[in-house]
Amino acid sequence: MISRQSIDLVLNSAIIDEVIGEYITLKKRGANLLGRCPFHDEKSPSFTVSPAKGIYKCFGCGKAGNSVSFLMEHDNLSFSDSIRKLAAKYNITLEEDTHQNSEAYNEKQQKRESLLIALTFAKDYFKEQLHTEEGKIAGDSYFRERGFTQQTIDEFELGYSPAGWESLVNEAEKNKFNLDFFVDAGLIKKREEKGTYFDMFRQRVIFPIHDLSGKVIAFGGRQLVKDDKSPKYLNSPETEVYHKSNVLYGMFQAKKEIKAKNNCFLVEGYTDVTTLHQSEIKNVVASSGTSLTEGQIKLIKRFTDNVTVLYDGDAAGVKASIRGIDLLLEQGLNVRTVSFPEGEDPDSYCKKLGTSAFQDFLVSQNKDFIIFKADLLMQGVANDPIKKTEVVKNLLVSISLIPDALKRAAYARECSKLMDTDEKLLLVEINKLRKKGSFISSQNIESEIQEILQAPLPQPEQYFAGVEQEEGLVRLLIQSGYKKFMEEATVADFIFKELHEDDALEIKHPLYQEILNEVQTFMAEELALSEQFFINHANSEIRNLAGTYLTEKYEISPYWAENGTVITDEKGNYVKDLQSVFLFLKLNKVNELITNHLKEFAEAETPEVQENCMQYYIQLMDIRNQIAGVLGVAVVG
Ligand code: CTP
Ligand code: MN
Repeated sequence: MISRQSIDLVLNSAIIDEVIGEYITLKKRGANLLGRCPFHDEKSPSFTVSPAKGIYKCFGCGKAGNSVSFLMEHDNLSFSDSIRKLAAKYNITLEEDTHQNSEAYNEKQQKRESLLIALTFAKDYFKEQLHTEEGKIAGDSYFRERGFTQQTIDEFELGYSPAGWESLVNEAEKNKFNLDFFVDAGLIKKREEKGTYFDMFRQRVIFPIHDLSGKVIAFGGRQLVKDDKSPKYLNSPETEVYHKSNVLYGMFQAKKEIKAKNNCFLVEGYTDVTTLHQSEIKNVVASSGTSLTEGQIKLIKRFTDNVTVLYDGDAAGVKASIRGIDLLLEQGLNVRTVSFPEGEDPDSYCKKLGTSAFQDFLVSQNKDFIIFKADLLMQGVANDPIKKTEVVKNLLVSISLIPDALKRAAYARECSKLMDTDEKLLLVEINKLRKKGSFISSQNIESEIQEILQAPLPQPEQYFAGVEQEEGLVRLLIQSGYKKFMEEATVADFIFKELHEDDALEIKHPLYQEILNEVQTFMAEELALSEQFFINHANSEIRNLAGTYLTEKYEISPYWAENGTVITDEKGNYVKDLQSVFLFLKLNKVNELITNHLKEFAEAETPEVQENCMQYYIQLMDIRNQIAGVLGVAVVG
């Protein structure tokens, strides 16, 4: 059974004119929409849809209902199938519920209902207070001074909480409410000693926070004059009906426009939302000053894949939002940004420029986030190679979070231009970063690798120069890359794990390097590698190489072929091949490092530097002897 919460979520997310608009043409008629009834034959339209109420009614045949009943009737679906269909349309994951009828469930449900009633009561009370003597002077005039229109005040159900300590308490008591629910809703508190109650929101203008269906679930209250003794905004605590991390301020008022515009503006504050609304920018929600959560991003994703983040114009604001933005990228959203002049936020700047200039500003100033970040970080580091490396890494982390490989590649290209670096290298790094997050993490892989490394080896007689090992590696990848190697890994997995574990093990031959990159990008999409990948590859050099390797009658170990050793055994042999390929690669690398260090040693200008070089040199020799020992090769020098 689909859980009650999931059903509510679907009902609250569905936008009726969109749902019905897929079946019949609707034309605007005042606040409603009008079309020809799909349930009976008619010449002049009498089928009416009310977006505000989420319902339809045909004045010809009398049929009426909501999004779900429309689908049930029109597509002949059951209730739960209609819910499933809508859930798919709005990207909602449905939860199944097995406790539907249990007592605990009902009790919880009732508690939620009671909290919602208390919250609605408080909302209506706060709204009324704007019209009292005190409220007019303190609350209403505050809104007017800041340029709030009556329409905004009504649409967002703004209010005022009086200065007294027990205004709401008294009102609730007068109406015979159980005050416990007001306590649990975070509206009032109990003085334990006396057993009396007092209001949480006092002398503040009130911004109710709505859920997707427009029910009030929490409040934010702003102080009227700056007073450092209490917070500028006081917000409701987490309650049974208010989970901050799943709520965005303004989503109820914005959801339809977000869908229509296929974009969501993300701002920080309550007033940014209301002011932009007033300027006909209605697809806007606020994170309410905290960093974005996954739940909030999922909420946006129900309505669009495109987010435009509007930063406050100060350095701290920008830095703070960058972290949240990585989360947006990770969830596959396309992120653009607009930054504001120092000291301005969307609210203040919109008022400064006026509606139309502000709209133009948003259009002309919005930038792709990655490009924006690159520009921002590159300022002043162009001549500092160390800082530049840090910047590149930082950017690559952002890019590596993007799930879509094509998008990642496009960004790698863009950034390579911006930063004057090699595009391919950037892609390789990006893929490494992706692997670090997701690669076969199991502990036993480690121990299996240990085991393989300790297994006795055949004794090759000679050892090869670097390019042969590289060729050996690629040959193994093409011939056996897709084959199972260990519990959950393939030969290719092992190869990349080894390559990543040791950053020094770079492949130098350009074609081999390209093949490794291609395979890695392919595998990053969790696609299964096969011989076909190479045989049908767009690059003819790769196709040719595959042709050569894959038509060899036997898989010949490149290292033992010299001795005429033909490897036919399915499992064990490429294991050994792999092991020796990497050991040889490592040996080459170590030899290279040793040579470099000897040079450094000779050129060292101080005894300290010489001492350091010597220490490192000794370590390297040690490693070289260990590897050579396992391989059974003699090293000269
Ligand atoms: N905020 C909060 N508690 C505070 C300060 C801020 O919850 N003590 C949240 C509010 O949601 C606020 C947002 O962070 O809207 C941004 O804070 P800030 O920029 O300080 O406020 P503004 O939204 O600009 O509000 P105003 O224009 O009324 O000053
Ligand atoms: Mn502000």
